[in-house]
Amino acid sequence: MKEQLDILGADFMAALAEVKSAEALKELESEYLGKKWKLKAILAGVKDLSIEDKKTIGVAANTMKNDFLSALANKAVEIEEAYFAQIEEKEALDVSLQYPSKNLGHKHPISHTTELLEDIFISLGFKIEDGPQVEDELHNFDKLNIPHNHPARDVWDTFWVSDDINDSKDIGERLLLRTHTSPVQIRTMMSQELPIKIVVPGRVFRYEQEDARHTCNFYQLEGLVVGEWVTFGDLKWTLDTVMKQLLGEKTELRFRPSIFPFTEPSAEVDVSCQICSGTGKVKGKNCSMCSATGWVELLGSGMVHPTVLEGCWIDSKKYSGFAFGMGIDRIAAQRFGVSSSRMFYQNKLKLNEQF
Ligand code: DAH
Repeated sequence: MKEQLDILGADFMAALAEVKSAEALKELESEYLGKKWKLKAILAGVKDLSIEDKKTIGVAANTMKNDFLSALANKAVEIEEAYFAQIEEKEALDVSLQYPSKNLGHKHPISHTTELLEDIFISLGFKIEDGPQVEDELHNFDKLNIPHNHPARDVWDTFWVSDDINDSKDIGERLLLRTHTSPVQIRTMMSQELPIKIVVPGRVFRYEQEDARHTCNFYQLEGLVVGEWVTFGDLKWTLDTVMKQLLGEKTELRFRPSIFPFTEPSAEVDVSCQICSGTGKVKGKNCSMCSATGWVELLGSGMVHPTVLEGCWIDSKKYSGFAFGMGIDRIAAQRFGVSSSRMFYQNKLKLNEQF
């Protein structure tokens, strides 16, 4: 009987070595240890043995059963490990592989220019602010010293929100697409502590006849500094520093006296045209970017009008400020040598892909 047990043990081990799957392992287990297990069949003969032999065979059979169980458990772990190893191999991800497409997107020249401007202003200690594109009349006009029915409003051809909505509103509350980023000056002065030093990049809308320099939506960057002892000299230094960093050391600035209701005194600022290097001519023809003048008007600026400060509860005797608003599109056109900023909105990949 001992011999039979030994043969059974050897058979089991040989069969186990062949097992490759969890299912086959289950079958083997029930074959040897299940209801009709082989070991049981052998042990059926134990009753005919002597007491002494019964003991030895009993112990041997028990040991064998435990050996089978632990061998089966080990095999189960082995099978599971092999299963996961194979999955790992099949689903392995090579993160060093390069994505095959060449058509990676990139930033639009206007976004690129906006981010560069933000970086330059941040380096000078400015904070970035934001405001709503659908603005109310109070912030877009009245608080900027452009009262209802004042002819100065004609400068900003306005897209008003539909009459259905505006008819039921009081004057001042009527909604429009903001015509400039200047209303964010008001929002900031009314909500923040002094001193204020902000720039506001954003989209603005005008009811315009389109040409090389005018589009009915475009981007501006507003600037505002308010505190004690803020002077026109600070304004000039700031704009000169920014434009030279942006367009190159050789860039010249020209300040022309101007009028804006929200600043006094006011100035328009031109930069030497980068397209024709200030000559007014490109390949013998008149430069269309600067209308052959050699200068491009980039921004409006000035000292914040006392009425505007007082309207935001700021003591205009104690505090002063400067402000400016520049056209990001025009700056982008200057930087990238694009002759008409309208091209930025025509979605022509041929143009955009060059930058
Ligand atoms: N808001 C003006 C415009 O859209 C630009 C401007 C001019 C902004 C003078 C200013 C400023 O802050 O001081 O035409």
